Amino acid sequence: MRKFAKGFLLGAATAAHQVEGNNKESDCWTLENMPGSMYKEPSLDAVDHYRRYEEDIALLASSGLGAYRFSIEWARIEPRRGEFDAKEIEHYRNVLLCCRRNGVTPVVTFHHFSSPKWLTAGGGWESEDTPELFAAYCRKVASELSGLIPYACTINEANMGLQIGRIMSDMESGLRKSVKGKDTPDAGVQVGLNVERRESMAAYYRAVGEAFGTDPRKVQPFLSPRTPAGDAIIIRSHVLAREAIRAVSPATKVGLTLSLYDYQSLPGGEGYVARMRDEDFVHYLPSIEADDFLGVQNYSRKVYGPEGRLPPAEGARLTDAGYEFYPEALAGVLRYVSSLWKKPILVTENGISTNDDADRLEFIEAATSGVMDCLAEGIDVRGYMYWSLLDNFEWSLGFAQRFGLVAVDRATQERKPKASLAFLGSGASR
Ligand code: BGC
Repeated sequence: MRKFAKGFLLGAATAAHQVEGNNKESDCWTLENMPGSMYKEPSLDAVDHYRRYEEDIALLASSGLGAYRFSIEWARIEPRRGEFDAKEIEHYRNVLLCCRRNGVTPVVTFHHFSSPKWLTAGGGWESEDTPELFAAYCRKVASELSGLIPYACTINEANMGLQIGRIMSDMESGLRKSVKGKDTPDAGVQVGLNVERRESMAAYYRAVGEAFGTDPRKVQPFLSPRTPAGDAIIIRSHVLAREAIRAVSPATKVGLTLSLYDYQSLPGGEGYVARMRDEDFVHYLPSIEADDFLGVQNYSRKVYGPEGRLPPAEGARLTDAGYEFYPEALAGVLRYVSSLWKKPILVTENGISTNDDADRLEFIEAATSGVMDCLAEGIDVRGYMYWSLLDNFEWSLGFAQRFGLVAVDRATQERKPKASLAFLGSGASR
């Protein structure tokens, strides 16, 4: 693999709930453990990163990689509304100091899908109170850890709820049938979602209400269909958080991340592509123009014809997540985004779910060489963080999907670096 220039942030990413384990105050934990859960399995100890982060960061650094994107868990920091847990802030201070000792630049996400249970029970990501509450948490963390966070992503994939809303309505109208292959987990959104319908959705929602101790209609986790009003709440949460972080930690560069497909059209599909691009990206531009960078997250492409989305061609190579193996998508997205966004870009996620590490090497080689082409064209890409450092908990699909550069035996929590870790590391100039 060719080398990126010195200073380019080449690394890997994780998210708290997917790797740490025992995130007991979170909404996801509640959803995983309730009767009739949509989660295929609960996260339990996950891959015990909460206790093994030193080993994991050392592994990343020893491969040559110089950047680690991870998230701080709001549910740990503020397990009850207004009560901040000093011990948990210390935990993340130690993680940041560990990065420093290893010569690794941290890229810190303040919200990566999981939220405190109390927030979600109180209306979550559809509640007018959430922007202030989120900003207060960000302010607290950034002021305590000021000086240790060079890059902050406020919200991971701020557009995910809109994407989920879209697939849910496609499902209801019968549209999604044409894009879902029989045995693939591809729900039509990036994140691992189990979209199997329960026999009785009414019973499911009753159980949700009981688990959260409230009217189920109030329970609004981040990974649920977003209304336009909820989207505006997410945007406002980002803007207030950005200002809060800057006020107490002026050296921190702040942005958010978006899930972006490489949307392509056949003749007649242009209208669909324009609508998708607008919903996923363009309508956020006025609210993020004051950000320091944009986090781009890409895994594949989607192709549209005159009748809407087309399934991958017969015989197309699919990843284990069910979507098309198409590493060229990343460069496609970077070219499109940079036509409208003139500030720095960080690739905060890009990766492949596969049990065959040779596929991963091929994917990384092609995706990163696309990034190098973009750099040569003058696109301001500052980093590439592969998803994920570790095999981990893929949300409601559980542990079966394997995105990691490092395998984990969950019986012993033993780490086994794959060849792809050293391969990606060989692209760094340190
Ligand atoms: C999310 C990750 C997830 C990954 C792979 C992204 O949508 O940010 O949390 O694990 O995709 O599906």
